[in-house]
Amino acid sequence: MGEKQVMETTEAQIAVHWQEEDYYYPSSKFIGQANLTDPDIYDRFSLDNFPDCFTEYAELLTWYKYWDEVLDTSDAPCFKWFRGGQINASYNCIDRHLKKNKNKTAIHFVPELEEERVDHITYQELYVRVNEFAALLRDFAGLKRGDRVTIHMPMSAELPITMLACARLGVIHSVVFGGFSASACADRIVDSNSRVLISMDAYYRAGNLLNHKVNADEAVAIAAKDGQVVDKVLVWQRYPGKASSDTPMVDGRDYFVNDVVKKYYGARVEPEKMLSEDPLFLMYTSGTTGKPKGAQHSTGGYLAYVTAMSKYIQDIHPKDVYWCMADIGWITGHSFIVYGPLALCASTVIYEGVPTYPDAGRSWRIAQDLDVNIFHTAPTAIRALRKIGPDEPAKYTYHFKHMTTVGEPIEPEVWKWYESAVGKGEAIIVDTWWQTETGGFLCSTVPALKPMKPGSAGPGVPGIHPIILDDNGDEVTQPGIAGNICIQNPWPGQMQTIWGDRQRFVDTYFARYCKNPESKDWRDWPYVAGDAATRSQDGYYRILGRIDDVINVSGHRLGTKEIESAALVVQEVAEAAVVPVAHEIKGKEPDLYIALKPGVEATDEIAKKISDAICEQIGKIAKPRKVWLVPDMPKTRSGKIMRRVLGAISNKGDVGNVMTLANPEVVETIKNMVDKS
Ligand code: PRX
Repeated sequence: MGEKQVMETTEAQIAVHWQEEDYYYPSSKFIGQANLTDPDIYDRFSLDNFPDCFTEYAELLTWYKYWDEVLDTSDAPCFKWFRGGQINASYNCIDRHLKKNKNKTAIHFVPELEEERVDHITYQELYVRVNEFAALLRDFAGLKRGDRVTIHMPMSAELPITMLACARLGVIHSVVFGGFSASACADRIVDSNSRVLISMDAYYRAGNLLNHKVNADEAVAIAAKDGQVVDKVLVWQRYPGKASSDTPMVDGRDYFVNDVVKKYYGARVEPEKMLSEDPLFLMYTSGTTGKPKGAQHSTGGYLAYVTAMSKYIQDIHPKDVYWCMADIGWITGHSFIVYGPLALCASTVIYEGVPTYPDAGRSWRIAQDLDVNIFHTAPTAIRALRKIGPDEPAKYTYHFKHMTTVGEPIEPEVWKWYESAVGKGEAIIVDTWWQTETGGFLCSTVPALKPMKPGSAGPGVPGIHPIILDDNGDEVTQPGIAGNICIQNPWPGQMQTIWGDRQRFVDTYFARYCKNPESKDWRDWPYVAGDAATRSQDGYYRILGRIDDVINVSGHRLGTKEIESAALVVQEVAEAAVVPVAHEIKGKEPDLYIALKPGVEATDEIAKKISDAICEQIGKIAKPRKVWLVPDMPKTRSGKIMRRVLGAISNKGDVGNVMTLANPEVVETIKNMVDKS
């Protein structure tokens, strides 16, 4: 059986509810310059015109050969978009801009150290560097079309260069968030069968120079134990002689890219003519089991969709300087730092470090110095910036025309600070709801066409037709009543499958409402997003949170099972349960309940050992708020841990009637323990 989503035991219950129905309208100045002002777009993208309407998005790209069929449903729900078309993503993000814009900045890279020079990489320079690195990957690392490569790198200009070099060759990249641990990286190396790992020596984060290459050594060792041999580790060097000096290079396996690439100076690599349906990349994401799943994204469909979303929702023009604060190691970074903005020939900003170090003015200084006019961030960053420097933005002279929020629900009061203090009342805001699996946006306002409403993502973007279903599969038509938000139709940015696990793909995203698993008709395959939502009278959707075992911490997605599995590796642990607890800045944090094995004493040392084990296996973002060492877990008579009860205790809510539990007395003990601390 697949990953069943059960509404009663979920985050939807503890989601923040707000009732405001304020509308904000774009200025005529914004509308006057917007890419999309034609209200007919919604008719053109109605279900009656499905799927042909999506050719409008595909035509934003340059194809070697147009498609034979817009949508091939023969292997539903693994849909093939623009089947038979031939295209290359690296060509579309670089080469096609050279004739008119080779001297325009493609990437501004801002290092953390303010005394270091900001790098302004032109499209011509990007072309040169991507070609040289592609030649290295092909001729030195022996990579070819269809191979997978794991990339574990911090934020740097070399990260998109690496991705685009892979795309040029048709090599499928799997980027692992730089903050993930060696063990998390190893899992992804093994699952994708990567024999090459690309890493970096070091990076700065909040004042510390972190050695990153050590993670590569550990990851390769762990992967080897699981049967996946990595025969080459390519290490980009940012701090020669500094950070990596204490990390020995393994002879015959590890190579500094900066040395090897010299052999390829001046090399040019013809972009591979990829089929539209060939995979471009894998992006691993958390699900309801311990094992992250590799969301497989296509070349043509994905690129068409993110380019259209960047143009119409992000309103990116080639003259814009666009800054998305996400990490490239997440889907937001792939779609809206790298592929979308570069396909549109914009200048995209990449920064090292954190927005709040060395001080709360950093973001606004960067925006001012680089003339950023489109800004994209997450509620967690907005909350943090608001808390530590509510008046900072006014000290700087930047002007945003457009701002995005993404990744988690945003409270209206935070939205309003974003609008007035950060946007200075001049910028429109789009709240974009989407997922790793969806490639690009699902719900948002088209900024020049629909008013903004704080706290609501908006209606489906053109071409996306959401529906709210109840547990029986009936549509919830009444405004304000929560249900499972689904998408009625496929779209080009939708993931193709889970890498190597088609059944899990079907079970996770479709099984719940698909009435005929043999069907080749797209209408039979509504996509189940795994979020609870309400729809209001005006057709805007408000996202309430996940309905499955996924926690959204600072906009980063973590599986509760992943964290529990990591805790269970500590030999003293008998049982582990993770629940989300509300946090002022991060949105949610994991709270970890542990029952120790009989005879093991509950001490602070054990709690720390468990917490450290989680950081080591997943990364610091998964660190629990608190490890509660409890005498026993509250359980049903059939032995199931009642996470709902633990969630209520952590969030100081009502535990409800617990008398039917096998051990109701333990609830009071745990409650006292938590309330007292
Ligand atoms: O619960 C929704 C929340 O983030 C989940 C997807 O996480 P991930 O795959 O990591 O992608 C994050 C970046 C797109 C969703 O299932 N989410 C995402 N955007 C919003 C949101 N919740 C509310 N409002 C949003 N705008």
